[in-house]
Amino acid sequence: MTTAITGATGQLGSLVITDLLQRGVAPGEIVAIVRDNAKAAPLADKGVTVRVADYSDPAALKSALDGVDKLLLISGSEVGQRVPQHTNVIEAAEAAGVSLIAYTSLLKADSSGVSLAPEHLATEERLAASSIPAVLLRNGWYWENYGSALPQAIESGTLYGAAGNGRLAAASRADFAAAAAAVLTLDDQGGKTYELGGDERLTYAEFAKIVGEVAGKDIAYADLSESDYAAALAGAGLPEPVATMLAGADAGISRGELDTDSGDLQTLIGRPSTPVADVIKAAIA
Ligand SMILES: NC(=O)c1ccc[n+]([C@@H]2O[C@H](COP(=O)([O-])OP(=O)(O)OC[C@H]3O[C@@H](n4cnc5c(N)ncnc54)[C@H](OP(=O)(O)O)[C@@H]3O)[C@@H](O)[C@H]2O)c1
Repeated sequence: MTTAITGATGQLGSLVITDLLQRGVAPGEIVAIVRDNAKAAPLADKGVTVRVADYSDPAALKSALDGVDKLLLISGSEVGQRVPQHTNVIEAAEAAGVSLIAYTSLLKADSSGVSLAPEHLATEERLAASSIPAVLLRNGWYWENYGSALPQAIESGTLYGAAGNGRLAAASRADFAAAAAAVLTLDDQGGKTYELGGDERLTYAEFAKIVGEVAGKDIAYADLSESDYAAALAGAGLPEPVATMLAGADAGISRGELDTDSGDLQTLIGRPSTPVADVIKAAIA
């Protein structure tokens, strides 16, 4: 049984491979698909097979998937390019005779108003049209997404956002990786959809309080309008599209689009999600 992971040099992909090895999957049964061979040296050192293929290179993708049984398609990071890129991967998997594709989608991708959702939904639809059975890992937000905002929040005593009183069931990246590794090692996963979120379903005010407890000072949440928050992020130096995306995601949180109580993450990883305080501690260490 050979399992391939795309985006294997990325943060999530690396964690998935570590988890698979910890679960006893032999390194020789793992294919790491990467676009930068040099970056994959740590994976090769573990005995994992490294194959090079960009999501935009159908021929390389087909070669990279030769002999692969299960594929984890980790969504790409080039927003706006991802539907054709993911389609290339799926078509290459079809040509190579892959038997299962797991895809890292977005929580509630079929109903979410978050700007990242349409590319994920289009990929899900392409998978539904494929002859290959697919399993959808609809990942919620990573708690690590807040890492870059923490120093300013700790320094100023204010965490800014535009999520109102919405609840956010985020989880650590490592927990989402563990869920993906679990799916890749289980049987009969084709056709399943997992809505993945952590145990702590926090408002930003509750999140700010926990950040304060970890940092040893009071931190309050200041709620801005979506447009004011986007302007504040752009003013702080973020590229305009990223600022707009993040503020829009907060609006999605206010509507409950990054919240779930499905329990799917916990079932797959066989334990509660990692406490957010632990993720914050690691981020500010
Ligand atoms: N749920 C969330 O909160 C959240 C947050 C951020 C991102 N995401 C999504 O989840 C994915 C995995 O997260 P992550 O933390 O692992 O992100 P990441 O560290 O940025 O990893 C993205 C991976 O995709 C690879 N990649 C991007 N474009 C590619 C292309 N054209 N061809 C081949 N490979 C390509 C990158 O290759 P290189 O290693 O060569 O750069 C990298 O390995 C992201 O790509 C994004 O779609 C989710």
